[in-house]
Amino acid sequence: MDSQPKPHSLHKIVVLNPKGGCGKTTLATNVASYYARRGPPPTLVDCDPHGYSMRWLNNRSAQRPKIFGVAAYEHCTRAGKGFDLHAWPGSAHMIVDLPAALPDDQLYYQTYDANSILIPVMPSEIDIYSAAAFIANLLLIAQLDRRNRNVAIVANRTRQNTRSLRKLMRFLTSLEIPIIAQLRDSQNYVHAAAEGIGVFEMPAYKARKDVEKMQPIIAWLEKWRMRKLDAAASTDFQHALGSEILTPAELSKR
Ligand SMILES: Nc1ncnc2c1ncn2[C@@H]1O[C@H](COP(=O)(O)OP(=O)(O)OP(=O)(O)O)[C@@H](O)[C@H]1O
Ligand SMILES: [Mg+2]
Repeated sequence: MDSQPKPHSLHKIVVLNPKGGCGKTTLATNVASYYARRGPPPTLVDCDPHGYSMRWLNNRSAQRPKIFGVAAYEHCTRAGKGFDLHAWPGSAHMIVDLPAALPDDQLYYQTYDANSILIPVMPSEIDIYSAAAFIANLLLIAQLDRRNRNVAIVANRTRQNTRSLRKLMRFLTSLEIPIIAQLRDSQNYVHAAAEGIGVFEMPAYKARKDVEKMQPIIAWLEKWRMRKLDAAASTDFQHALGSEILTPAELSKR
């Protein structure tokens, strides 16, 4: 059986929100770690000049399931289209970690062909206010049809039933954008980041609650994948180990 997915089965997942520190890199790296465990090796594209996703990948042990990292800061922030992001040809998933500051034209080029867009939002008054403006702009700029429902919110660092969380829920319901998960404020994300892993790769006794909270995100991504793409990714994939960080030019030679 062919263990490599066909290129057209690539699922492009973009994580974005102009608000700094809301959890984009945390979400992107945790999703990448999930797909690495499942195989085939996903591609994680770091578009942020700070390079936190690639720093996370640098922390990843060579004994962990492989992730292809693409350090694409310059490509992503260059004005105009001017670049084409490619995944490693064997990847079934390409996760793109976008920086907080992104000009509107880049926002368009990064999102117009995304299969799934994840927007982490922290449920504080100010974050909800800025997320509202951003989502309205995104729907316009990227010409996203909200009825297609390829955009979803992940409420990050939530405490159950706070007033601001209820407010976030009401606002998002009015935009018809689903809140697919509520991640806890948990040190597990911080500890996992230091090791270049995700909560899915932590011992169950430590991370069970956080894994449970992440599961709806995977389920939502998979729903899209099944609807949009053929399910060519093999579940029999032999795990490759040892992650690599490449430039877009190096990756295109693979
Ligand atoms: N659910 C969480 N629980 C605890 N800490 C978290 C959680 N989510 C994110 N963090 C921590 O908050 C900090 C900011 O998160 P992260 O780097 O993912 O945000 P970001 O949106 O990528 O930021 P930037 O806009 O600077 O790229 C990190 O130190 C991260 O470990
Ligand atoms: Mg980041």
